[in-house]
Amino acid sequence: MTPGWWTEAVIYQIYPRSFADSDGDGIGDLPGITARLDHLVELGVDAVWLSPFYPSPQADAGYDVADYRDVEPLFGTLPDADRLIGEAKRRGLRVIVDLVPNHTSSAHVWFAEALTAAPGSPQRQRYVFRDGLGADGGEPPNDWQSVFGGPAWTRVTEPDGRPGQWYLHLFDTAQPDLNWDNPEVRAEFVDVLRFWLDRGVDGFRVDVAHGLIKQADLADWQEPQEILSGREVDKPRPPMWDQDGVHEIYREWRRVVDSYGSAPQDGRVLVAEAWVEPAERLARYIRPDEMHQAFNFEYLLAAWTAPAQYAVITRSLEATDAVGAPTTWVLSNHDVVRHASRLGLPIGTPRPNGIGAQDPQPDAGLGLRRARAATLLMLALPGSAYLYQGEELGLPEHTTLPDEARQDPTYHRTRGAQRGRDGCRVPIPWEADAPSYGFGPTDASWLPQPPSWSEYALDRQRDVPGSTYEVYRAALRLRREHGLGRGALRWLESADEVLAFANDGLRVLTNFGPAPVPLPEGAEVLVSSAPLDGTGHVPTDVTVWFRA
Ligand code: NOJ
Repeated sequence: MTPGWWTEAVIYQIYPRSFADSDGDGIGDLPGITARLDHLVELGVDAVWLSPFYPSPQADAGYDVADYRDVEPLFGTLPDADRLIGEAKRRGLRVIVDLVPNHTSSAHVWFAEALTAAPGSPQRQRYVFRDGLGADGGEPPNDWQSVFGGPAWTRVTEPDGRPGQWYLHLFDTAQPDLNWDNPEVRAEFVDVLRFWLDRGVDGFRVDVAHGLIKQADLADWQEPQEILSGREVDKPRPPMWDQDGVHEIYREWRRVVDSYGSAPQDGRVLVAEAWVEPAERLARYIRPDEMHQAFNFEYLLAAWTAPAQYAVITRSLEATDAVGAPTTWVLSNHDVVRHASRLGLPIGTPRPNGIGAQDPQPDAGLGLRRARAATLLMLALPGSAYLYQGEELGLPEHTTLPDEARQDPTYHRTRGAQRGRDGCRVPIPWEADAPSYGFGPTDASWLPQPPSWSEYALDRQRDVPGSTYEVYRAALRLRREHGLGRGALRWLESADEVLAFANDGLRVLTNFGPAPVPLPEGAEVLVSSAPLDGTGHVPTDVTVWFRA
C-alpha cells in the first residue's frame, strides 16, 4: 500500500508573530508568510504548520484563543488565511494549522458567559469550575500547579460581587481549561475542525493533546508540575495528563478528518503535541484509528552522545512500528531553547526553560557545529521530520534578552526564576543590511533581534557553499531523491563515540568522539555537516552522508 504523504513529510513550523511582517508593526502576519512561501519551496520542505493566528489577547502568544473561526487582526483577516492556504497549495506545500482544545482564552465568549452565570449552570459546565475548600471556600479545590508556575486555580467574583468559585487553568490564568466531559464542548470542536477542513487545510497540530481529560476526582497530586509526565507504564499517572479518556476524543476526530480525505496523497492529518513518556505510551495516540503523528519529544530531549542517540532512535522506531505509525523527529520548536544553543551547553545540563544574560552562556560555535550534525543525522532517519523557522539559518537562541522585553507568561508567573521561551521566538533575519534584518519594512520587532543576527541572515547564506542554509537544502534534496523518509534504518555501528547506519542506499556516520574517524575506502561523500579534514576523516561532532 502507498504510504500517506505525512509518513515521510518534512514539516516546517511557522511561528506567525516572528516569521515575516508585511505591515511594519513589528509583528509577523499572514500576508508576510504568503510573500515568503517561495523560501520554503527553495528550502525543500513538504508542508508548513502554522502556530495559532486566531483572535486572541495574546496572553500566551496566541495559545489563548478567543474565537476559533477567525483571524487575529494583528495577523490579518480570514481572506488572508484563505489566500495563504491557496498560495501554499499552488506551490505544492501542505498546510497544517494549530488547534488549541485544552483551554480557551478568558476572552472567549463562553468564558464571559460562564462568569455571569450561576454556579452549576450549563455555561459554567463548559469549563472546570469548583467550590473552594475551607470554611469560606477560600482555598483552591486541589493542589495542582500551573505549567507556567503558581497555582492552577483562580477564584472568580460572582455576579453579586462576592468571592465565588474557582476555575482550573493548567496554563495561564487567561487560559481556562475546557470541560471535555461536556458533549457541547466536543460538538463545538468537531465543528471547528470542519470549519478549517472546509477552507482546505491538510491537518491539525493538536495542542496539549494529553491534557483534555482530567481524572474525575481531581485528586491532589503533591508533586511539582511537569508537562512531561515521564512515568513508567505501571506507575501512577498524574491526574491531569495522559488519561485514558482522551483517546475516545481522537477517535471521533479521526472519523471527521478521514471523511475529508484519507487516501495517501489526500489524507488530512492529526498531530499530537503530547508530552508523554515512555514511547510506548505516546504511541497510543497514533494507533490506526487515532492521530497520524505525535511529536517525539523524547528525541528532542536526548543527550548529544552516541549511546543516548542510539537508544532514543531505536526505542522511537520500535514504539511507532508497533502501532504502524510513522516515527517523527524534532530538535527545535517555539517552546524550547533552539538546538543551536541547547547543544552548546555542557552535555548533561538539564533542559533549561530559556536562558538569560545572568545564566551560563552556551558555546555558540560548538552549539552550531553539533546542531548541524544533529540535523543531518535527523534528516536521514526514516519517518517525518519537523523543522522550526530559522533553524535552517543555524539561528541560536537569543540568550541575553533584556528582562523587560520578555513576554512569556512563564517568566512572569515564576517571577523570573524561569526565563521562559521568548529567546527562541525572536523574529528571524532575512536580509543582513535591511531594517529588522528584512523581517519587516521597518525597524520594529516585537522582541529585539541581537546585532549578531546579520551574519545568520538568509541573504548571507544563500548560494554560499557550506553555509547552514545550503547544508539544509542539500540534505532535503538528497532526502527526497533517496526516499529516506520512507526508507528503513539498519545500524552499522553503535559504539561509544560513533553512530553509523544505512538507510537504503545511503550511509550516515556521526562522530561524537574526540578523535577523527576514517570513512570506508572509496566512500563518496554526498553532504557533510562541516568540512572533512584533509585526509577525508570525519572530525568531532560531524555527520556525513555518503555512498560506499
Ligand atoms: C503548548 C504550546 O506549544 C505552548 O506554546 C503553549 O504555551 C501551551 N501548549 C499552552 O497552550
